[in-house]
Amino acid sequence: MTALEAFIEKLDALARDATAAFESATTAEELEQARVEFLGARQGRLKAIQKGMGRLDRSERPAAGKKLNEVKRQIDSAFQAARAALGKEQAGPAVRSPFDPTLPGDRPRLGHVHPITQTIEVLKEIMGRLGFSVAEGPEIEDEWHNFEALNIPAAHPARDPLENFYIDAGPSQRAERCHETADRSQDGDLLSDFYRATAEARAGAPLLLRSQTSTVQIRVMEQTAPPIRIISLGRVYRPDTADATHYPLFHQMEGLLVDRQVTMADLKSVLRMFATSYLGEDVHVRFRPSFFPFTEPSVEADFWWNDEWVEFGGAGMVDPNVLRAVGYDPETVSGFAFGLGVERLCMRRHQITDIREFYRNDVRFLRQF
Ligand code: DAH
Repeated sequence: MTALEAFIEKLDALARDATAAFESATTAEELEQARVEFLGARQGRLKAIQKGMGRLDRSERPAAGKKLNEVKRQIDSAFQAARAALGKEQAGPAVRSPFDPTLPGDRPRLGHVHPITQTIEVLKEIMGRLGFSVAEGPEIEDEWHNFEALNIPAAHPARDPLENFYIDAGPSQRAERCHETADRSQDGDLLSDFYRATAEARAGAPLLLRSQTSTVQIRVMEQTAPPIRIISLGRVYRPDTADATHYPLFHQMEGLLVDRQVTMADLKSVLRMFATSYLGEDVHVRFRPSFFPFTEPSVEADFWWNDEWVEFGGAGMVDPNVLRAVGYDPETVSGFAFGLGVERLCMRRHQITDIREFYRNDVRFLRQF
């Protein structure tokens, strides 16, 4: 056998092997592997044979080249045929890209603000327009701010340990807190001496989670001279059993206005403006006589809404004892205060019937607001 004959025989064998390999490929990956094996530009078997051409006699080369090209075309068309056959069977994914850029995309879900926080923002907005600025106070309180200064004496049932979350704080924690509050009074305002004196007197007093935001009335008045026009929104805590209308944690909006010659008429107009802004123009306000230790007279405020009277919270004229407790003179200044339940306002507006929903963190509920 001449060298040329051997060369041609090798090429024919390669063509047979390649065709068989392409035909037996059952996936696009297998077919691609076979293509690289036979037709690969660097390590392919055809390339290896082609390299052997250099060893042929110069006169044999044209014939060898012609055969090489023939076989190359043959293997190529065997590959194309195998690819077409596979394409028909698999109709796609392995051959076409699995990514279809013409499909509509999946919109990523955005989180949003909790309905109670949303309500708080709206309330701040409305009261801000009426000239009330926002004040804050701590959630861990002493008995002075939660009771004593609010004219709730030691024997009052509201102070029962079973009605409150008292905190078992060690003496050092209590002392630390007392310094904190005393420090805050040192910014040179009119009442700081008075405030420091009462803060010192409270050293070592028991602490509790505040049961009402009325505490902030005291904190603001202790540190500021009248006139005062504030609201305070925040969490309060009571050991109530959770049901559709009670939860051991809830939110209140406290309001306080102190100035010269403030009357019930001012209280009523502020609450009416608030109610019409929050619930709608057709809301009416009704006062029912009530009792709170820190107001005299005291009322329950009801809003007429969707054909019924709904109780939203308490209000009244600040009791002279409260004004005295913060060093104000009840003969020269007077004020009104109110405390409304934030959950209740939010539930009415959105027709939510169970307060527990706010704290279950079920996204199917929260997503609706
Ligand atoms: N602090 C009262 C409560 O939690 C609500 C309240 C009533 C607040 C009358 C007030 C007020 O400021 O004047 O039940």
